[in-house]
Amino acid sequence: MATAIVSGLLKKGIGAETISAFDISESASAKFAELTGIRTCTSAEKAAAGADIVILAVKPQNMESAVHQLKDSAAGKLVISIAAGITLVKIMNLTGAQRVIRAMPNTPALIGEGMTALSCSEYVLQDDSERALKIFESVGKVCLVNEKLMDAVTGLSGSGPAYVFDFILALSDAGVINGLTRETSFKLATQTVYGAAKLVIESGQHPSILKENVVSPGGTTAKGLAVLERGAFRGIISEAVTAATERSRELGRD
Ligand SMILES: NC(=O)c1ccc[n+]([C@@H]2O[C@H](COP(=O)([O-])OP(=O)(O)OC[C@H]3O[C@@H](n4cnc5c(N)ncnc54)[C@H](OP(=O)(O)O)[C@@H]3O)[C@@H](O)[C@H]2O)c1
Repeated sequence: MATAIVSGLLKKGIGAETISAFDISESASAKFAELTGIRTCTSAEKAAAGADIVILAVKPQNMESAVHQLKDSAAGKLVISIAAGITLVKIMNLTGAQRVIRAMPNTPALIGEGMTALSCSEYVLQDDSERALKIFESVGKVCLVNEKLMDAVTGLSGSGPAYVFDFILALSDAGVINGLTRETSFKLATQTVYGAAKLVIESGQHPSILKENVVSPGGTTAKGLAVLERGAFRGIISEAVTAATERSRELGRD
């Protein structure tokens, strides 16, 4: 995730010399430096010294030790955490910083098509949230939400790419069952999902209208949709997002 964010910033023209990084894993650090050209430091404290913004991009279970290594170099700075489930209050308590922002990006950030939700502590200044918006806009789209909605964001857009990958696999397998080669079926499935999402975005039309446009009376799509309806397609998606939301809530309580 850190590599995706830094690559996005560099593409937007942010100077490599303005960013420094630390990763406890020497191999990950070397790979990060090779991919981004960013200076890596030998400690978290050195990476944060002199920075205006500190981004915490470690797994939730590594957060306490990562922040411990920062000593008090994050206090007084804008701190942005991308760790799932770790609350603003916890980050404030761990770092001693007050201006804290939680971000929930997703993996399409790797290709600049991420979706990130941000929530800010009450001490965050307008300039801070504008800078955070700019950082995550460099890897996709961004919205601001109240922290209590972060679990729902995690269940929807954080976990969402995996649901869509599974949908692509299911469509692809179904094409093979009906005689298409694996290669052709995969191409048809992937481009269909991509094209449909792009059509929603670029036409500005509601998906229910776009759906209506493809359903001709007595036609093939109506037959297919009726089967999805019988299998409670939309109900199961709703249950999946709700289950992931609940799991995110549980992780936050750990
Ligand atoms: N991947 C996603 O889809 C996604 C989406 C939204 C949010 N997030 C959040 O983003 C965060 C990072 O996820 P990721 O997938 O980018 O993780 P990752 O690939 O494991 O990267 C984290 C890096 O931090 C290193 N690290 C561990 N402890 C450290 C410490 N104390 N100080 C400095 N570096 C340390 C890890 O080294 P080791 O491997 O040696 O531990 C690893 O190289 C997570 O909190 C996750 O919840 C991820």
